[in-house]
Amino acid sequence: MRSARTQVGIVGAGPAGLMLGHLLHLHGIDSVILESRSREHVIERVRAGVLEQGTVDLMSDARVADRLRREGMRHDGIHIAFGGARHRIDMAELTGGRAITIYGQNEVVKDLIDARLGTGRPLHFEVDAVGVHDLLTPHPKIRFDHGGAAHELTCDVVAGCDGFHGICRSAIPAEHLRIYEREYPFGWLGVLAAAPPTSEELVYSLHDRGFALFSMRSPAITRLYLQCAPDENADDWSDDRIWAELITRLSTADGWAPAVGPILQKGVTGMRSFVAEPMRYGRLFLAGDAAHIVPPTGAKGLNLAMADVRRLADALDALYTSRREDALNAYSDRGLRRTWRAQRFSWWMTSMLHRSESDTPFDRRRQHAELEYLVGSRAAMTSLAENYVGVPFD
Ligand code: FAD
Ligand code: DHB
Repeated sequence: MRSARTQVGIVGAGPAGLMLGHLLHLHGIDSVILESRSREHVIERVRAGVLEQGTVDLMSDARVADRLRREGMRHDGIHIAFGGARHRIDMAELTGGRAITIYGQNEVVKDLIDARLGTGRPLHFEVDAVGVHDLLTPHPKIRFDHGGAAHELTCDVVAGCDGFHGICRSAIPAEHLRIYEREYPFGWLGVLAAAPPTSEELVYSLHDRGFALFSMRSPAITRLYLQCAPDENADDWSDDRIWAELITRLSTADGWAPAVGPILQKGVTGMRSFVAEPMRYGRLFLAGDAAHIVPPTGAKGLNLAMADVRRLADALDALYTSRREDALNAYSDRGLRRTWRAQRFSWWMTSMLHRSESDTPFDRRRQHAELEYLVGSRAAMTSLAENYVGVPFD
């Protein structure tokens, strides 16, 4: 067994783990990042695309925003479509100038991997059999296999940034965790298409056949989503079938429709709301999807992960520079407040914009009334806008 020592052992090189490692580096704190998948897999995984202002500001402050500034697309508003009409919500006007930026999560990950490699600090891909141990002692350990050898890494703190299916949360004894969960009876079929965006801003649509979302990645690439069954096989969806369904669900009476082009990538994701409380067990701190999942309709998951690691990095800085543990002790409660706010919003957006087989005629009419109220009331639009652009990171 090879032994090594670091200040913070980070499990997972998604947005949470990589950003945490970078923020710690800027504070002069040592870390080792361990990732089970390959570098190519992590970079190519197409996922989120909406960055809150707080995430953009964090990337700028952390000096990893050069490409984001060049290639990110600032959006001041979004469209909500139903009943054949599109309604614009001017988020910037309603929130005193706050906006979102469209920039793919895989681009964020790529920028953070480049930054990490630039620091020379350890980032190991394709590690196996990762386990976390001695979490209630001052020196928790991570054991793992890498490069044909068994390793033991002794840490001051372990950061569980290993996503929903990772091992860190399950290392916490069940009696110390409270789980809140809701599964939805549908999923999203997400596609990436070589087609220029025909709308400058996102379109969230509710059609009788279900939800659809029009988004983008660049002036040449659109990103689109269709509500489908949670266990749907993406291979059952030919390009023709995908486009027919997208055009049916998204087109509006003013003649707007997405442009058609070759489908570059497709995949199905189930949807759930999930919170594990607290986000800490001894010297193990959970961050991002390891601690909470939101359905993607509110575009909050990546942003919550970024808010978590910003708080954790600041708390660890206070620990190392002034031996103060108060921020570390407040990490979970503060994170859970933000999480529950995002949970409420994501659940609300999801229930307003999706069709469920169990809907009664009453549910349908109520859903329609909700949408009409939303687009007709400045107060309702402001409520959506301030949650969608996100409250400042605290
Ligand atoms: P992850 O990205 O899951 O990273 C965890 C990492 O840990 C992975 O690289 C994994 O391989 C690694 N890992 C797992 N187990 C181990 C182990 N045992 N050892 C070592 N490493 C391990 N969020 C938004 O904010 N805006 C959006 O627009 C949005 N849209 C989305 C659309 C889709 C289709 C999906 C699926 C998600 C979307 N999200 C969105 C959510 C967002 O992608 C996640 O919240 C985000 O990836 C969370 O980052 P993370 O670092 O916590 O977890
Ligand atoms: C995207 C993803 C989302 O979950 C969302 O709500 C909006 C946009 C995207 O991938 O662009």
